[in-house]
Amino acid sequence: MNKVIIITGASSGFGKTTAELLSSHGHKVYGFCRREMSHPSITYVQCDVRDSETIALKVKEIYDKEGHIDVLINNAGMGIGGSLEMATEEEIDTQMNVNFRGCVNMCQKVLPYMRKQRQGKIINFSSIGGVMGLPYQGFYSASKFAIEGFTEALSAEVKGFGIQLSMVEPGDFATNFTASRKNSQSTMDDPDYGPIFKRSLGLIEKEENGGLTPDVLARKIEKIVNAKHPRLRYVVANFEQWLSVVLKRIIPGNWFVNILVDYYKTKPEKK
Ligand SMILES: NC(=O)c1ccc[n+]([C@@H]2O[C@H](COP(=O)([O-])OP(=O)(O)OC[C@H]3O[C@@H](n4cnc5c(N)ncnc54)[C@H](OP(=O)(O)O)[C@@H]3O)[C@@H](O)[C@H]2O)c1
Repeated sequence: MNKVIIITGASSGFGKTTAELLSSHGHKVYGFCRREMSHPSITYVQCDVRDSETIALKVKEIYDKEGHIDVLINNAGMGIGGSLEMATEEEIDTQMNVNFRGCVNMCQKVLPYMRKQRQGKIINFSSIGGVMGLPYQGFYSASKFAIEGFTEALSAEVKGFGIQLSMVEPGDFATNFTASRKNSQSTMDDPDYGPIFKRSLGLIEKEENGGLTPDVLARKIEKIVNAKHPRLRYVVANFEQWLSVVLKRIIPGNWFVNILVDYYKTKPEKK
């Protein structure tokens, strides 16, 4: 059955590919993003996920027109790179407000309609960075850990109203995420952190640019949209990254930190 689907961050990367796939299979797709966009079978809605008043208006318009909202996909997000110590208040607020509060805003405005319908599905974008704390992407990880806790708790609150929650935890994918990342100049310029950050960032960017293509995740999202009993969590990653998630869940915390230190080469060079 064709569904009414809202997806955020539909102008690029996962969001664009997923919106195109779902609309090509007959679903009525509303794509939220800040940029002005047009597409023959996607209705684009210009909106910042931090602007809860506009979200409320736009979601009401969709419900009034369609009579139901079946699926919400909270994909919009961005990354800020740098040391946790040197992150500015503005950087922290931007990271948490776009990735976490944006997801919360969308859920809060759509849930009243889904509760009224006694059915609905919400798919939130976490990340492998929502399973493990990634060095030099620490507030990005924090925003995704927040999504993990929020989604698990929300799932328990609204299951009884017929609303199903899922999260996707992607590994590295080649999208515009890498080019859009905002990197902390003060970390770059610091004599201690600077060289380590640049080295780690080089590794992170190489893995993202050489990562899987977004259509792999779009197909997984479509399966979740169609699933009668979707899981709470889906890791979508290459084998190595999938294994790191399994390891993280079973080995002692400090061992895992040692793996992160080695992998991201975060120890300073001996002078
Ligand atoms: N790529 C990866 O390796 C990877 C891995 C794990 C998780 N993820 C997650 O996947 C999601 C999508 O990222 P992507 O890789 O597809 O990156 P992308 O190509 O940069 O796309 C990001 C999307 O988010 C939208 N967006 C950003 N800030 C927004 C705001 N304030 N309000 C509304 N929309 C906003 C952008 O649209 P506008 O600029 O037009 O607003 C764009 O459509 C993110 O949540 C990201 O954390 C990515």
